[in-house]
Amino acid sequence: MSVETIRVSTEWLDLREGTDAAARSRELVGELGRQLRPGGVRVVHDLACGTGAMGRWLAPLVPGRQHWVLHDRDADLLDVAAARCPAPAADGAPVDVETRCSDITRLAADDLAGAGLVTASALLDLLTREELDGLLDICFGAGCPLLLTLSVIGRVELAPADPLDVRVAAAFDAHQRRMTGRGRLLGPDAVAAAVDELSAAGSQVLVRRSGWRLGAAEAGLAAAWFRGWIAAACEQEPELADEIASYEGRRLAAAQTGRLAVTVGHADLLALPRDGRAA
Ligand SMILES: C[S@@+](CC[C@H](N)C(=O)[O-])C[C@H]1O[C@@H](n2cnc3c(N)ncnc32)[C@H](O)[C@@H]1O
Repeated sequence: MSVETIRVSTEWLDLREGTDAAARSRELVGELGRQLRPGGVRVVHDLACGTGAMGRWLAPLVPGRQHWVLHDRDADLLDVAAARCPAPAADGAPVDVETRCSDITRLAADDLAGAGLVTASALLDLLTREELDGLLDICFGAGCPLLLTLSVIGRVELAPADPLDVRVAAAFDAHQRRMTGRGRLLGPDAVAAAVDELSAAGSQVLVRRSGWRLGAAEAGLAAAWFRGWIAAACEQEPELADEIASYEGRRLAAAQTGRLAVTVGHADLLALPRDGRAA
């Protein structure tokens, strides 16, 4: 068991940014828009922002002046995020950003003081139950909407199908739920855990599917995703490597040439305070 800090590369985040943008739920943004109060500067905290893709997607979909506070523990990713500011808001109002290098599982209530919206994307499944509960507690205390997008839900479909797909998927899901020095990761259980926690705290919670659909036009992302999927499965079950050697080569070649259609299930979650509107 080790305390894992897996670094995410700018290249990987760049590769997935367009597909992530297409997958995130616009319906939840519409619902969010109905809750936001016009006027003033909306302060948005994006937790575990990476290179800031969430802000580049969401800021132009929401009206009004916005100040984004981008949190991540990786200073290199934050430098990229600071250099790639989001486009102006939906009504042309200015959007600016500041960065904060920190561990978001150690946020205190003061860190989110004055927040009008808290967001996170592709984060929840990386947390343990204890980390998730602690983080949601702080977010709930901020009293504003919470938009949590692109959490994996353990559904992967490959077409054409192969009998070994199910075996690899099971090993991958076990890897996502592995025990670490921080505790057991939530992996595909993160969305259900977040819904439980936020509903029990009194939020209104909406969940929508936000799956990736990778075809020939996304062959680069499909191949990179497939490599990572196999590597995680084999790390979890080293004996799998021999069993799937020919499968891996065959499927990777198909992914690289756009002959493998990949669907990766995600879910987006919007939590709204029941007793009022956001700043
Ligand atoms: C899969 S990336 C997602 C990045 C970005 N939200 C996006 O959607 O493109 C996960 C990010 O979480 C950050 N991260 C993971 N655990 C963290 C923690 N405990 N504190 C701060 N950042 C964390 C990583 O550095 C990485 O940037």
